[in-house]
Amino acid sequence: MKIGILGTGTVGETIGTKLVELGHTVTMGSRDAANVKAAAWVKKAGKHAAAGTFKDAATAGEIVFNCTSGQGSVAAVTSAGEAALRGKVLIDVSNPLDFTKGPIPILSVGNTDSLGEQLQKAVPSAKVVKTLNTLGAPLMVNPRSLADSHNLFICGDDDGAKAKAVELLRSFGWRDEDIVDLGDITAARGVEAYVLLWVRIYRRFGSANFNLKLVRGK
Ligand SMILES: NC(=O)c1ccc[n+]([C@@H]2O[C@H](COP(=O)([O-])OP(=O)(O)OC[C@H]3O[C@@H](n4cnc5c(N)ncnc54)[C@H](OP(=O)(O)O)[C@@H]3O)[C@@H](O)[C@H]2O)c1
Repeated sequence: MKIGILGTGTVGETIGTKLVELGHTVTMGSRDAANVKAAAWVKKAGKHAAAGTFKDAATAGEIVFNCTSGQGSVAAVTSAGEAALRGKVLIDVSNPLDFTKGPIPILSVGNTDSLGEQLQKAVPSAKVVKTLNTLGAPLMVNPRSLADSHNLFICGDDDGAKAKAVELLRSFGWRDEDIVDLGDITAARGVEAYVLLWVRIYRRFGSANFNLKLVRGK
């Protein structure tokens, strides 16, 4: 499958590398078609990897990941453009973290809105699916590296789009029984707010190699 990745950071690189390993053709997008990190990644990832602008990546992908900084995501997706994203699944991994007040972030949007919803409004004809934002990048694509089972959340307005995203998640190693569908895109308010707790757990243990496991009663 052809997949577009918006973002040249750790997450874009980690997901892009996994997708190429799985046999997909990946275009990584940036504000600058000549972005140095994207060029270095292409060199490393091989002939099934390419780089370009956000618009190039969105145009090339049948499915597109948003892996841009939360503070730049609306701009990145807007610059990718509605035309390039029309009808496509847009898997949103971003978090609206604002580090301007110090090393412990606050959310730049929350309670009655979320970044996932803002992206859905920015490109209404795309099908935004929020997932993977509650984990460190290595665990996103290698969930079975933890000894125990653990959970992944997914939300979005379009059930067909969520099913397509789940197919890719399965190929990363996620088991159906561990994927929790929280409903429509407004559930992004919850999974984005969780990241404030994720940051505190990360600081407590000094490692991002953890995740949540839901233990439910009958
Ligand atoms: N790091 C993790 O383990 C992790 C885990 C879960 C979720 N997340 C979320 O995943 C996203 C990506 O994280 P990351 O650490 O890989 O990278 P990042 O440093 O947060 O983001 C890098 C990307 O954001 C783009 N960007 C930055 N400011 C922008 C702006 N004003 N307008 C448009 N684009 C802009 C950059 O564009 P250029 O390429 O043009 O520089 C680059 O592609 C974030 O939202 C983060 O909260 C990260």
